[in-house]
Amino acid sequence: GRVVVLYGGNSAEREVSLRSGAAVLAALERSGVDVIGYDPADGGLVGLEALAPDRVFIALHGRGGEDGTLQGALELLGIPYTGSGVLASALGMDKQRTKLVWQALGLPTPESLMLDADADWDDIVARLGLPLIVKPVHEGSTLGISIVDSREALRAAYHEAARFDARVMAERFIRGEEYTVSLLGGRVLPAIRVEVPSGFYDYEAKYNSNDTRYHLPCGLDTAQEAALGALCRQAFEAVGGEGWGRVDVMRDGDGRFWLIEVNTAPGMTDHSLVPQAAAHAGIDFDTLVLRILTATLE
Ligand code: DAL
Ligand code: MG
Repeated sequence: GRVVVLYGGNSAEREVSLRSGAAVLAALERSGVDVIGYDPADGGLVGLEALAPDRVFIALHGRGGEDGTLQGALELLGIPYTGSGVLASALGMDKQRTKLVWQALGLPTPESLMLDADADWDDIVARLGLPLIVKPVHEGSTLGISIVDSREALRAAYHEAARFDARVMAERFIRGEEYTVSLLGGRVLPAIRVEVPSGFYDYEAKYNSNDTRYHLPCGLDTAQEAALGALCRQAFEAVGGEGWGRVDVMRDGDGRFWLIEVNTAPGMTDHSLVPQAAAHAGIDFDTLVLRILTATLE
């Protein structure tokens, strides 16, 4: 049957999704799959239905594609799709409620507080310390995120994040190393340590810079990497994640891991992390795409 790759969309991560989707589409074409790309920003759900897909590969990032709304629509239309279902997609898009679930299960994640325009900035700083992180609750690719070094900068960071989302959070900053773990059909792929010269793995470092270093193998010893993988699998399952995904983690100076967020439709660009982890495990890009396509389809 025919596969439709959904990409583009209306979210702030549209450009990233166009790159992910083009790569996925090309991979499926190379594999001889009957496939077509479709941008829901151009024709909505009506246009998608007209293509009569047997399955959908979701290469959309952010709101309207990764957040459960599309997944709910596809459920109602009876069209099978890749990745997580409605609940995990919606939870994964909400960085703050993801934390509530992890905390309820005793999984480690940095303390956070919600912000609004009338927040008591002194109190926030007193409770989380400096530096701290300010982020939109429902955003991806580091859009709208600031590392705040002073109480004075906190208000400006709030307003920057509020351009992206009505809900904004502050999070305790974990000084240390940044890791990411990819999950594919019940399998934990090798962890990657990301190192950025500027110290901040932001949009530029993620998609455009050639200075970002991806350590693979990640440099942890076998037992530590196994512990990290097990933690990320638990974190993914805690939100009900299915099929494939990626969990981002910080490791502090004492070697403790802190869960930061889960991504239920991770980037698939040539700079992206899941394809790198898969390649290190001997799974080339075309095979990876086929596995994602089959992982969640019953
Ligand atoms: N939100 C981006 C696409 C990622 O997690 O890879
Ligand atoms: Mg993310």
